Amino acid sequence: MGLTEEICGIVRSAGEIILHAEGQRNAQAVKEGHANFVTVYDRQVQEYLIEKLTALLPEAQFLGEEEGKDLFREEYRKGLLFVIDPIDGTSNFMNGLFPSVISVGLFKDGRPYIGVVYNPVSDQMFFAEKGKGAYVLENGTEEAKSLRASEKPLAHSLVSFGTSPYHSELFERTFALAADCLPRCIDLRRSGCAAWDLCMVASGRIGMYFECEIGIWDCAAGVLLVTEAGGSATQLSGEPLTFDGPTSMLACGTGITEEDRAFLRR
Ligand code: IPD
Repeated sequence: MGLTEEICGIVRSAGEIILHAEGQRNAQAVKEGHANFVTVYDRQVQEYLIEKLTALLPEAQFLGEEEGKDLFREEYRKGLLFVIDPIDGTSNFMNGLFPSVISVGLFKDGRPYIGVVYNPVSDQMFFAEKGKGAYVLENGTEEAKSLRASEKPLAHSLVSFGTSPYHSELFERTFALAADCLPRCIDLRRSGCAAWDLCMVASGRIGMYFECEIGIWDCAAGVLLVTEAGGSATQLSGEPLTFDGPTSMLACGTGITEEDRAFLRR
């Protein structure tokens, strides 16, 4: 079995924790920023992933959203590093909305190498390996479908955006950009889950996704899905991603032109 497949297997079994979550979906802790919650399940899924992924790749280091693992260190730039978000879309999860996904990125020498995003509720497994394309297993089939980012221009695309909910200083800019975007596209969407937004760009359903600030764990896996599906992922400014901490995000299908995205840089 290949490494990507083994990671998918571990992520799929971690999904059982989310599927069988009963009670206690309420926050167990509040982190820094506006409405930034942690549930008992975020912690359980992170612990489960660290245990199983350590057994798979003992030499790998870990960066994860939940406490004790959430600070980037210089030594992460070398060797293998798992970057995990045990539940991306925690607020959705707490309120019984979807999507809430598990996101696992494996970096090699500081760059994305393998990306896996799993939605346990819809049983959709998105995965990509550097240079080998991006794929999804969905609709109960066992044959992975290759992903292609959309070729549509902005005017014929749906756009999703994130509200950077933990950063109230960014709310005004976020909604100014959203207001600028709406007349230029078909319509706007807000999923509540950055990793999912990136999967939707990779699968060509959404033409563009932007957010003023997200965590490295929100995008570690999804960025590789987008680029392996032929799309682009950069900072909002157009600068390359640095994968060493929080970042702005702009993910686009191939039909989004430079002119289409210029409004984001004003
Ligand atoms: C959040 C979600 C949300 C995005 C935030 C993320 P979390 O992740 O992805 O859609 O707007 O920027 O931090 O906290 O639910 O893992």
